Amino acid sequence: MRTVYDQIMSLRSVRQYSDKPLSDEHLDQILEAARWTGSAKNLQLWSFIVVDGAQKERLCAAGDFTTPLANAPVAIALVQEPHGYEFDTGRLAQNIMLAAASLGVVSCPITLHRDEVAAEVLELPEGARARYAVSLGYPPEDGKIARFGGQGGRKDRSEVIFHNTHGTPLDGS
Ligand SMILES: Cc1cc2nc3c(=O)[nH]c(=O)nc-3n(C[C@H](O)[C@H](O)[C@H](O)COP(=O)(O)O)c2cc1C
Repeated sequence: MRTVYDQIMSLRSVRQYSDKPLSDEHLDQILEAARWTGSAKNLQLWSFIVVDGAQKERLCAAGDFTTPLANAPVAIALVQEPHGYEFDTGRLAQNIMLAAASLGVVSCPITLHRDEVAAEVLELPEGARARYAVSLGYPPEDGKIARFGGQGGRKDRSEVIFHNTHGTPLDGS
């Protein structure tokens, strides 16, 4: 069995999907994982809008890099309700992606750069914001995964891990 650590280390954004629709059972399990995410003061100032079909196409107009949204059978728009925290939205996105991966579902975070467009498409109430969505689907049959930033590697440890003050190396990094 793959551990959570393995899942975290292998989690990648996937932008192409099989034509197979996401099963209702998998979607429901992923939404449950989202709903049970911890939030600041447990306020849960969020909501989830499952987006597909023509509505998903309309949402694409809200972002600059929405190919994964166009390609995926379904996406979840993450709504930050009034006075909600962006940190909570980040936790939601990661939990959705990890829960999805554990079920064999691939995903990609999507930025809705023009969130006023997203708000209009999603008919959000005043003060609510949907700056991010997560596209979901099954892996493409050909196994090809397109990446931003070359091979999708990470900065060297010495560039990002410090000890006590910014710039001081941590032994071993
Ligand atoms: C906050 C955030 C917003 C992102 N927005 C987009 C996006 O709009 N479109 C896209 O294709 N990928 C998007 N990504 C995916 C990143 O490009 C991806 O995580 C990064 O290139 C590292 O690749 P990996 O996730 O496969 O390791 C986003 C990721 C994060 C964390």
